[in-house]
Amino acid sequence: MQTITRLHMLRNSAASLRRDVATLALVPTMGALHEGHLTLVREARLLADHVCVSIFVNPKQFGPNEDLDAYPRQLEADSALLEAEGVELLWAPSVEEMYPSGFATSISVAGVTENFCGADRPGHFDGVATVVCKLFNQVGPDVACFGEKDWQQLATIRRMARDLDLSAPMADRIIGIPTVREPDGLAMSSRNRYLSPENRSAAATLPRAMKDAIGQIEAGEAVSAALAELQNRLTEAGFSSVDYADLADADSLELLRARGNTPARLLVAARIGGTRLIDNMPVSAA
Ligand code: PAJ
Repeated sequence: MQTITRLHMLRNSAASLRRDVATLALVPTMGALHEGHLTLVREARLLADHVCVSIFVNPKQFGPNEDLDAYPRQLEADSALLEAEGVELLWAPSVEEMYPSGFATSISVAGVTENFCGADRPGHFDGVATVVCKLFNQVGPDVACFGEKDWQQLATIRRMARDLDLSAPMADRIIGIPTVREPDGLAMSSRNRYLSPENRSAAATLPRAMKDAIGQIEAGEAVSAALAELQNRLTEAGFSSVDYADLADADSLELLRARGNTPARLLVAARIGGTRLIDNMPVSAA
């Protein structure tokens, strides 16, 4: 018999006792699948024996003036794509199944959700954390894959998993997958389909201007000057507003005024033709 007094040891031992013949990976999505999602599915396939994909347009993460009703829903087309990828399980619950009447619990992660999309979209990350926690409990995966495209979301889910001692999956089995981009650099997103052809081509300024800003910051230029130039370029390209364009610590998401000696992230949200685009890229430590 083993007597265990430390949580990390309990985790290891309990996991090895529980070990089944097969492992399961979960890829949570809201559907309207594109190559970004399918890349997550392919990575998940490499990490586990079986793959479960969830498709659920989660009302709790949309604000009152956001695009919940307009959000694309195409379960049949999505299901064919997942079938072709060899996905074993598609979990596509109804809103009533996910949130039966009387549902009253919300998970709120502080700190990492304070700035950026957390400030612009009140309640958004509570909705994300709550549904992802439910998906984890429902599916009980060994590993889960999320896109770095939604960096603050990934940081929030990792924080939640650590803080709540989640075990399926454990926090270190929450895997971030690099952003998949269109040939012109625009991050793939279900919302790109809202862009007019003109705005679609202007949107490619976002990743280009971000790369240039990172080049300047890594070359030692002042962060404030690089960010101001980035904002100007977006406005000149036809973006109607920049919700945020900031440098942050890659893990804690605390705002940085200057490049420090830990990895950082440049995070941007900007609107073009009524569509809000987000992107983020790594900035190396000084
Ligand atoms: P959704 O926007 O459908 O994205 C599902 C997953 O795909 C997320 O982990 C997201 O980061 C990832 N993803 C989207 N575009 C990507 C790209 N271009 N490259 C790499 N990964 C990409 O994010 C959500 O849904 C929801 O908030 C969810 C986590 C499912 C909770 O409802």
